[in-house]
Amino acid sequence: MTPKRRVGVLGLGHVGLPTALGFAELGCTVVGTDSDRSKVEAIGAGVPPFYEPGLEELLERHLASGQFQALPEISEAVRRSDILFICVGTPHREDGSADLAQVEGAARTVAANLDRYKLIVEKSTAPVMTALWVERAIQRYGRGQRDFEVACNPEFLREGTAIHDFLHPDRVVIGANSERARSWLRELYEPLGRPMLITDRNSAEMIKHASNAFLALKISYINMVSDLCEAAGANVHDIAAGLGLDPRIGAHFLEAGIGYGGFCLPKDLKAFIHVAEEHGVNFALLREVGRINESRIDRFVRKVQQALWVLQDKELAVWGLSFKPHTDDIRDAPSLRVVQRLRQAGACLRLYDPAAAPEFRRVFPEDPHSLVYCSSALAAAQGAHAVLVLTEWPEFREIDWKQVRESMVLPIVVDGRNCLDAAALSTEGFEYHRVGEASLMPAGVKV
Ligand code: UGA
Repeated sequence: MTPKRRVGVLGLGHVGLPTALGFAELGCTVVGTDSDRSKVEAIGAGVPPFYEPGLEELLERHLASGQFQALPEISEAVRRSDILFICVGTPHREDGSADLAQVEGAARTVAANLDRYKLIVEKSTAPVMTALWVERAIQRYGRGQRDFEVACNPEFLREGTAIHDFLHPDRVVIGANSERARSWLRELYEPLGRPMLITDRNSAEMIKHASNAFLALKISYINMVSDLCEAAGANVHDIAAGLGLDPRIGAHFLEAGIGYGGFCLPKDLKAFIHVAEEHGVNFALLREVGRINESRIDRFVRKVQQALWVLQDKELAVWGLSFKPHTDDIRDAPSLRVVQRLRQAGACLRLYDPAAAPEFRRVFPEDPHSLVYCSSALAAAQGAHAVLVLTEWPEFREIDWKQVRESMVLPIVVDGRNCLDAAALSTEGFEYHRVGEASLMPAGVKV
């Protein structure tokens, strides 16, 4: 049996850390490193830098077992690895293109520490031809050391389920030029027993961008259908169910609401449009997807206004700040723009999120007169004229509506994620406004 190759992970963020621990779970010996030394030190002490279900337990287990080690010296991590995954950030620039400075930085670090054959694997989401540029950069800065290859193995991890996604992927995509690179990667993923797709590097890179852009497209599509439902009188939930039963369409990513956020879909959509335009392809379809998503915020704020009339000095409970449940990530979260708009309208906000409040507080510090952070959903509802739901955390569905009703000034809920139990709200006499579905009004109240 061939000895297990040593795995290195460069960049310990939302992709790198679950990937490193995922490989450790598969029995590999893994070293992880990051340019942020304090982050590496915290990870080495068992403290993950962000919230992700299951991550802390896995970290504890593999630090203890020795399968995973966090190394502050990047050069040492490179030298110790046979296969090195580049998992650094690829944020977007003003013009929508991907900022690849961190990827180039990683390539140069690899070049400076190349002491024997290594397989360098681009895992960060990056535009087509990035692997080629990584290869060129290592050649240029590698002082004649040419014993390496670059492959692409895009990640498909969702925040909130990243560990599960690593261990149970729908597919593993491997873009490589040589049989050696392909077989090294195949060996690594074989224990998962999942379908593997072997392609060239450009195609592997494009599969990732095209996947995220398609997911964004599905969401914007159902959101437009939802607008039509509101105008014509139909129910988007039923329509999504009817669409989803067709296996050619699929039931996932058809939930209408206040739109997609997060660090991936918005930036990858922009980057993919940019790549297309650089290659002379006009991807106006995807521009429209982005525009539809932007317009969700306006529509939601208008819905709140329609429910309450004047927003000035209204107390509004905001439930959910993260861009989706089970994460504390607020990057590009719809909540950022909704909160800003409501503040501009003069509303007083009572915010609650089970995980993301500390992050949100950095952007919107507490102001005793107009924006306060609450310790529970119920506390946020205290004295409120309406509850606004921006993230579908499961606890919101479980809440005791009788208690909520008793603590509020008016029984109004505007649900931007269509995630609550309409029957429970109706029993307690709430006005319940949803997206793409008729509002539920207590007897005698007209919309
Ligand atoms: C996304 C992809 O789903 C992953 O496959 C990919 O690996 C990852 O980006 C990445 O590129 O790293 P993630 O950003 O964690 O994962 O979040 P998603 O689950 O895709 O949700 C994105 C946004 O779409 C959220 O704001 C969510 O609330 C929204 N959404 C999702 C909807 O509005 N409707 C839906 O039906 C589904």
